[in-house]
Amino acid sequence: MSAVSMDVIVSLCKRRGFVFQSSEIYGGTGSCWDYGPLGVELRNNIKRIWWRDFVHQRDDMVGLDASILMHPTVWKASGHVDNFTDPMVDCRECKRRFRADQAGTMDWTHYCPATKGNKFTIKGGEPCKHCGARRTLCPECGKGELTAPRQFNLMFKTFMGPVEEDAALTYLRPETAQGIFVNFDNVLQATRRKLPFGIAQIGKAFRNEITPGNFIFRSREFEQMEIEFFVNPHDRLEGRPADEAWHDRWIADCQSWFTRYGLDPANVKLHEHLGDELAHYSKRTVDLLYRFPMGWNELMGIANRTDFDLKQHAKFSGKSLTWFDEERKEHVVPFVIEPSAGVDRALLAFLLDAYREEEVRGDKRVVLRFHPELAPIKIAVLPLLKKRPEIVAAGHDLRHRLTRRWLTLYDDTAAIGRLYRRQDEVGTPYCVTVDVKTVGDPEKGEAGDGKVTIRERDTMQQIRVPIAELEHVFGRLLDAGTPWSEVAAGYPRAEG
Ligand code: GAP
Repeated sequence: MSAVSMDVIVSLCKRRGFVFQSSEIYGGTGSCWDYGPLGVELRNNIKRIWWRDFVHQRDDMVGLDASILMHPTVWKASGHVDNFTDPMVDCRECKRRFRADQAGTMDWTHYCPATKGNKFTIKGGEPCKHCGARRTLCPECGKGELTAPRQFNLMFKTFMGPVEEDAALTYLRPETAQGIFVNFDNVLQATRRKLPFGIAQIGKAFRNEITPGNFIFRSREFEQMEIEFFVNPHDRLEGRPADEAWHDRWIADCQSWFTRYGLDPANVKLHEHLGDELAHYSKRTVDLLYRFPMGWNELMGIANRTDFDLKQHAKFSGKSLTWFDEERKEHVVPFVIEPSAGVDRALLAFLLDAYREEEVRGDKRVVLRFHPELAPIKIAVLPLLKKRPEIVAAGHDLRHRLTRRWLTLYDDTAAIGRLYRRQDEVGTPYCVTVDVKTVGDPEKGEAGDGKVTIRERDTMQQIRVPIAELEHVFGRLLDAGTPWSEVAAGYPRAEG
């Protein structure tokens, strides 16, 4: 299990402005979340580096931003109207609704006849140790009978246009993928791409989950980062069908992307879908699991969707969705490899993995060891003495200069020790301290040395650097990825 509990992360997220419950002043929704000042930066950083690494830095990828509301037939063709359902049961007494497959595994409430009707909470799947009974009633209230399972569609319905009638019915998209499939030919015509190539999209998706929960892990409104990678199924690569080889390549690329930006490889593993678990459209699906506090769970999925979606949309729209293979002189319906990740789940995993509690000189230090690319704030400028106007002015000046390239914050609302701790807790990799030596002391006739102290978050080491060299130093640390030890070796150490 992850070393940190979900409660600790939820509390940190609220206290420091990463994530708030949606509509909290009205009691909250519990199924939607709002990202605060630091959360929105972290979220944007995840999306930015994903787009940079998987779209900009590859020759075989392009981007797309399709609309959330689409023609309702899209969801008929994709199978969502008929198949995107969960079987659910209702309690006839308390009216709570459960997924049929989860009611048996949840902890359950029991009024035990062997103990004069005392109320117990019993672990999911286990019998009562007093009377031996197993759960038959509602797990929540322990009193009501459950209805027979009924299929419940997870798509949110809405109406397009001024009249709320069946003809105007459409859905909030439950995945971004279909926006890519229906634009396949548009992108092909506009870019003159050859197979294999992929289309990426980042955007909101909505699912009326029956049991949202575990903080931002499963919510009703979330964001996806999806790629549909189109491959010629008649090609061979590495001695096997090209779609199978590309599938393995994408699995490896996705796994190494998450570990490159900080997830401990021991907390990530692959899960192969077998038998019933495999979706009707999939030839093979592999999930990337992360060791969340509630156990191993899906971080993202990488599916081989075959030609299912393009053929379905061709059938329902009457438009040909093929690519012309000049060499073989034939029209081909491409196979599709789909790496599909959730922004919110990625953010949760990066937060959990970065969290550390350390002891420093007898005090507890909470630190988020974010990869610098993910850190919401890259540099904090902290004045050592707030009452010296020259120090404050130099600090503001530095913040303005540095923030042109890296998000930089100025804070003078506490003593320096407390300011460092605050930045550690939100994962800021570097603090810059302006002190008396920087600006000098005219009363004593001392000139400033024009140098500041840079403190690194993880080692807490400090070096003294001329202000004129700051952009160069941070360029090496934050843009070129030069290790701190290498950069620090070129400057004198400052005392902590
Ligand atoms: N187009 C394929 C697709 O949507 P999925 O496994 O249903 O596949 C892909 O979703 C990813 O989207 C998941 O691995 C997860 O990261 C994220 N996701 C799905 N449902 C979610 C929810 N209710 N809340 C947060 N993230 C979710």
